[in-house]
Amino acid sequence: QELQINLEQIEKGGYDHFMLKEIYEQPSAISDTYRGRMRVAEGIIKMAGIDDNLAKLLNAKRIIIIACGTSWHAGLVAEYIFEELVRIPVEVEYASEFRYRNPVIHADDVVIAISQSGETADTMAAIKLAKENRAFVFGVCNVVGSSISRETHAGAYTHAGPEIGVASTKAFTTQITVLALIALKLAERKGTISNSSFHYYLQELERIPEKVKAALESNEHIKYIADTYKNAKNFLYLGRGYNFPVALEGALKLKEISYIHAEGYPAAEMKHGPIALIDEQMPVVVIATKKGHYEKVVSNIQEIKSRKGKIIGIVTEGDVTVKELADHVIEIPETEEFLTPLLTTIPLQLLSYHIAVMLDKNVDQPRNLAKSVTVE
Ligand code: AGP
Repeated sequence: QELQINLEQIEKGGYDHFMLKEIYEQPSAISDTYRGRMRVAEGIIKMAGIDDNLAKLLNAKRIIIIACGTSWHAGLVAEYIFEELVRIPVEVEYASEFRYRNPVIHADDVVIAISQSGETADTMAAIKLAKENRAFVFGVCNVVGSSISRETHAGAYTHAGPEIGVASTKAFTTQITVLALIALKLAERKGTISNSSFHYYLQELERIPEKVKAALESNEHIKYIADTYKNAKNFLYLGRGYNFPVALEGALKLKEISYIHAEGYPAAEMKHGPIALIDEQMPVVVIATKKGHYEKVVSNIQEIKSRKGKIIGIVTEGDVTVKELADHVIEIPETEEFLTPLLTTIPLQLLSYHIAVMLDKNVDQPRNLAKSVTVE
């Protein structure tokens, strides 16, 4: 028993929980994911799974992304990235819905299945269905040799290392990293982005780990915010564009480990319903980075403020406007818009982590949840 506890302590590497350790591992997990694949000086992305199937991927009429939970959120981010950079239409489906609804699948569709564990039963069944319909299926998994990585025609691993905490953190950011690499490679080949943008984006992706480190420096400030709102009964998370899926992910993290009800919404949808929920009891986390429809998000913030909601803004370093309106702001470094989810996610992970710890919840093994969902 004692040996077991000590072993776990060692595995946690000095952190109180695996989740916190994994949050802090993200700078190295992201660079492990692009290392060896992205050669910035030469302007090359080399990925065997992509290079060996380049024609199929470039000629895809449509990309269908299937996943569950956090991996589905990474898929949503990828939808925005692929459509913007590669100009191929993308559909993102919950694996459980896709497999049961007689979907239209063509032989020239490319299906991308995203799964940290590589064992999720619904994602596996959706892959089998896509294969029966002769689609080309590409896997993005973290666990090497997992069932999904074996069942797919080709794939690219995230190199996040083992993720023990049930709440997914580094798997999410490394999934986005792999998917961004794929999109960049295809965009360059297709000519849908200029050569100079391609080079610039590679350099910017290379700078992300340092910027994640900078985002992690807000930890103490986030702890203070967590303490202020830990007894709230509900939370709302809002974001637009690339940060809409991040809002969903932030809400999921909070629900999973603190058991506080939270909802993520595209900020503009607020006026179609959720605005009715806002009063002085409601903390609203708004992702309001400079490049993501900033002015529009600022007007959403004004609407929340006039209804006395408590505003926690995730902003770009040096922001002035949101700072004046919000009750709290958490700054992240500036980056290219399609890479912002890699940074905006970080404070949301820390916020849910600290709230759960303060509420004395089992952060690494929340009730009713399993790390891999192998039941249907
Ligand atoms: C995320 O924090 C979850 N615990 C859960 O939503 C998870 O992402 C989902 O079950 C999918 O798992 P997978 O990536 O291993 O397929």
